[in-house]
Amino acid sequence: MSAITTIEDLHQIYRRRAPKMFYDYCESGSWTEQTFRENKSDFQKIHLRQRVAVDMSNRTTESTMIGQKVAMPVALAPVGLTGMQHADGEILAAKAAEAFGVPFTLSTMSICSIEDVAAHTTKPFWFQLYVMKDEDFVRRILQRAKDAGCSALVLTLDLQLLGQRHKDLKNGLSAPPKLTLPTMVNLATKWRWGMGMLGTKRRFFGNIVGHAQGVGDPASLGAWTAEQFDPQLDWGKIEKLRDLWGGKLILKGINDPEDAVMAAKIGADAITVSNHGGRQLDGAVSSIRMLPSILDALQGDTEVHLDSGIRTGQDVLKALALGAKGTMIGRAFIYGLGAMGQDGVSKALEILHTELDKTMALCGERDVKALGRHNLILPQGFA
Ligand code: FNR
Repeated sequence: MSAITTIEDLHQIYRRRAPKMFYDYCESGSWTEQTFRENKSDFQKIHLRQRVAVDMSNRTTESTMIGQKVAMPVALAPVGLTGMQHADGEILAAKAAEAFGVPFTLSTMSICSIEDVAAHTTKPFWFQLYVMKDEDFVRRILQRAKDAGCSALVLTLDLQLLGQRHKDLKNGLSAPPKLTLPTMVNLATKWRWGMGMLGTKRRFFGNIVGHAQGVGDPASLGAWTAEQFDPQLDWGKIEKLRDLWGGKLILKGINDPEDAVMAAKIGADAITVSNHGGRQLDGAVSSIRMLPSILDALQGDTEVHLDSGIRTGQDVLKALALGAKGTMIGRAFIYGLGAMGQDGVSKALEILHTELDKTMALCGERDVKALGRHNLILPQGFA
């Protein structure tokens, strides 16, 4: 464990341990992967102002996201199929987040169900919804999330159809994996993963089992999505969902100032500036580059979170200094989970926390809430 000092270290262990089909599912962007790459490289274009001779004692990374206290403003993003990266993956990630004091978000497309996660945790988590054509299913799943005490609904808006990820198609992605000869050969070399999976009963999509159309084990994610997801989702429908939920609402997948203003108008408690980690519209601008214009358009009307491309505490700091109130991480915690289960997620959170805390100090700041554009040197096109 002591040799693991970066998120990239966890990534490399995960890459060796996970079956290729699930590693590729995580590590892909859509089409040419331009946005996937730029999400990360654009963070590198922002520089930090080095300040000295400032009292750096008594630092804090504590803050709030949608009014909830967080040990640092980093939530775990919803990630489908987390339970295929490691047995009981969603439960383990939720427990690590709870222990650390940051929010966990359960995806609609999780392996462990809402009830599974609720039974193994003590604090409320966030539930992410993909809007399906079947309104009755949507009503029922929102009720399940309410019954489980979920403290926020994260409504994802940037996936009404699936951005094509070539590797998933080529691998014939399914959960559980279909046993073709290449899959069997690959699985045979991933004994740790296999041993873990043998110990769990949860090998199907826990939240959508019992769905009216009876789809619990979609053979091909792309075809299933096209069949099930509601392509007609618009602002009118979003307002209805807001009323149906009645609690805290986060609109995720906003990457344009006009959409952000609409989200604020309908009363979202927060938006997540995101391009789905480069998995949807390839060619979209990185979310960190879009953040300043979105904040300018909003004029403080709603809270803003950001994800897509965060791999270090410095990335978190840059997003906060640009004006985001919080951030979300997807792959950064999946690397940890796939590498070593709950301990790996805890390790990912510790790494990000240490990097954030020390970088903040070297910028001459003691409190994440005091970070601002004064800490940054921005390249052209960022502000
Ligand atoms: C995702 N993401 C996602 N988002 C969502 O709203 N529901 C989901 O089920 C999923 N599933 C999913 C699977 C995988 C493997 C990844 C990598 C991502 C998007 C996710 O919530 C988040 O927006 C991105 O992961 C952020 O980018 P980074 O941190 O991975 O670069």
